[in-house]
Amino acid sequence: MLKGAESADVIVIGGGVIGLAIARSLALRGIRRVALIERATLGAEASHAAAGMLAPQAEADGADAFFELACASRDLYPAFADELREETGIDIELERTGTLYLAFTERDEEEIEHRYNWQRRAGLFVERLSADEARHLEPCISEELRGALRFPLDVQVENRRLIAALSTSVKQHGIRLLTDAHVKSIIIEGRVIEGVETSRGNVHAPVVVVATGAWTSLLASSNNNSLPVHVEPVRGQMLCFESNPRLARHVIYSPRGYIVPRLDGRLLAGSTTERVGFNKCMTGEGVHAITAHALEIAPAVGSLPLVDSWAGLRPCTEDEWPVIGACAETRGLFYAAGHYRNGILLAPLTGELVAEQITTGKAAPLINAFSPERFQCVGVN
Ligand code: FAD
Ligand code: GLY
Repeated sequence: MLKGAESADVIVIGGGVIGLAIARSLALRGIRRVALIERATLGAEASHAAAGMLAPQAEADGADAFFELACASRDLYPAFADELREETGIDIELERTGTLYLAFTERDEEEIEHRYNWQRRAGLFVERLSADEARHLEPCISEELRGALRFPLDVQVENRRLIAALSTSVKQHGIRLLTDAHVKSIIIEGRVIEGVETSRGNVHAPVVVVATGAWTSLLASSNNNSLPVHVEPVRGQMLCFESNPRLARHVIYSPRGYIVPRLDGRLLAGSTTERVGFNKCMTGEGVHAITAHALEIAPAVGSLPLVDSWAGLRPCTEDEWPVIGACAETRGLFYAAGHYRNGILLAPLTGELVAEQITTGKAAPLINAFSPERFQCVGVN
């Protein structure tokens, strides 16, 4: 139990990449007493399971507010990686070889043509490659290839190193870390935040940030109402092969799957998209599908040793966009959840935007489209 009632200036609930990035940004903006409350251990959920791709161009279907947010966050990464290395000595392995997106069928070819056209029109860096050019860059790619795109600015980080760096950084900044502390409810009096009730006692604060990933809908308020933002867990299974020498250098997508070569010789292959509640099991069907999609990209994956596998829960809102910012109906309540497939990519910018809104009282125009207000953030009292 906590010794007496604790208090803080800001409480961040959830120690995944999003909660950690927000806590660090708050400390950098001079908020002295930040408490980060994590149910188990830091960064052990979706942020640990992720593939670490920073790939807005490879994943986007069009230029909308989400694409703008994602590109802006990707562009923060070089400075973010440098700062974290200087602060902590940990290299998050920002690997800038780039990303390939492959076409194996006529439909895939239409898909890459569409992507190439809208991205060129939007003035983005994208290269169209013939099958021979792509296979020249990555000889492991299947001979069935029909064509490819290369996104030189879509890169990757080692997300587990990112968690280690952020965890070290927040400790160094003097953030109060409460791990093994489950937040049972958010204490709201009238329409004003008072703090949180945890399994280790209450913590009082005028500002609470909800960064609880796929578990966000399970949080209650003190009057037993559930909070108004709905977030659903979406399972993603991953396989990890050993590839020494490295089979590839680019992150490689097809419309059905992806492979991610790590600097240490691991080759990740993903993933599935499954709405099965809070179940994090690997399944035969998942392993079969991921393997088939990886083999379609690079047949040589078939002879690599399979050394690890895991599944994680992506946090998904009703419109699949993250929910970031203040809840107008409850003073002091902020959200940073629902980052779905792109939480690693969006972490640096989410941290900045939430910290900015808390410290200045103003929301940057970039987050308007992601406000909790779009889910009619009312009725928590
Ligand atoms: P989490 O990392 O899940 O953290 C939430 C934390 O809140 C957890 O530690 C949990 O214990 C804690 N918590 C929950 N409830 C409570 C409570 N009541 N009290 C206290 N603590 C609580 N994103 C990318 O950008 N690039 C990728 O390549 C990529 N690949 C992915 C591949 C897979 C297979 C998966 C599953 C996800 C992938 N993602 C990727 C998505 C990314 O992992 C997530 O969007 C991101 O990790 C979400 O971070 P988070 O901090 O919101 O959630
Ligand atoms: N962004 C990759 C995934 O969620 O699987």
